[in-house]
Amino acid sequence: MSVRRLAEENVQPAAFAFSKDNAVWAKATIKKYPKGREQSAVIPLLMRAQEQDGWVTKAAIESIADMLTMPYIRVLEVATFYTQFQLKPVGTRAHVQVCGTTPCMLRGSEELISLCKKRIHPNPLTPNESGTLSWEEVECQGTCVNAPMVMIFKDTYEDLTVPQLEYIIDRFDAGKGADVKPGPQIDRIFSAPVGGPVTLLAPEKKPAAPRAKKASDDAAVSVPPSNAARPKTDAPETDPTLKTPVTAKSESAANDKVSGETKAEGGAAKPAAAAAKPSLDDKNRPAGIAKPDALDDLKLISGVGPKIEGTLHELGIFTFAQVAGWKKAEREWVDGYLNFKGRIERDDWVKQAKALAKGGEAEYIKVFGKKPR
Ligand code: FES
Repeated sequence: MSVRRLAEENVQPAAFAFSKDNAVWAKATIKKYPKGREQSAVIPLLMRAQEQDGWVTKAAIESIADMLTMPYIRVLEVATFYTQFQLKPVGTRAHVQVCGTTPCMLRGSEELISLCKKRIHPNPLTPNESGTLSWEEVECQGTCVNAPMVMIFKDTYEDLTVPQLEYIIDRFDAGKGADVKPGPQIDRIFSAPVGGPVTLLAPEKKPAAPRAKKASDDAAVSVPPSNAARPKTDAPETDPTLKTPVTAKSESAANDKVSGETKAEGGAAKPAAAAAKPSLDDKNRPAGIAKPDALDDLKLISGVGPKIEGTLHELGIFTFAQVAGWKKAEREWVDGYLNFKGRIERDDWVKQAKALAKGGEAEYIKVFGKKPR
């Protein structure tokens, strides 16, 4: 992370003043705090100053310190501590803060940084030629589970790939950043598992109740229901009701079967193996085409986000007409390739694509009674 210092004197404006509306807002914000605790408003005020001028100037720091009767150094400490505050002019349309902390780094943040260097400017905190974009590397932004991620102004964009981030930067550069939905850029709800929840789905089937005890059982060695209750021994235990001896291993396997899981050798539970990804050489893979000059916006199909669109492009799928023409086997191939678990059928991509191919959004609204996406 870079050292956070105020911008050089030659770019600092001589004075700072909140606009009329912001001054009213600042007064009301300070009043929210108890008497003697007005300094608690320092972060909201600094943030409002940044939103007004695009960055936090030295004059703004001093002005806010005066408003809150704080020593300048205290406000300077706050402004220089939090990377949310920009201490020098940044891109007017997007300042891309790429998390470079370990989880994001392990999931590809270095490639995202390389893209920023190429697409925006080789140096961090330096706006591009037109002054619209800038970038910097920051520490953990708290969405590690959806790594890698970037923050642009107050929003985070997660589960990123290089093409995905390039798309997001392009939208912001075109002044259309609002088109990009913040949060995960893949088929994931907030930080839930990819593809949907995998736990607490339905009550688990309970094992059959133990049979009633008979007098003849008294002589037999009973097998406790779990390993926890069983005294440790290496010798196989015997259940007279079974033909084969019950060992700790075989009982454990039986218990695992009930829970629908298999256990790794170390004993940790792991989900049953996922279905293998279909091969790219499979005969059911839909035919791709060369990238046409005019692409259809596949994201208009419900279930297709920027990442999935990128994957479809990699497969040579660029138009609604292509999707509309997929046969069942082809749909199944794509569904398996995207690990969608039947979502292509559930969302009826073919019907959506047919409508979009026929008459764009207007036809889609006619068919589905709502706007696409
Ligand atoms: S490590 Fe990147 S968000 Fe936490």
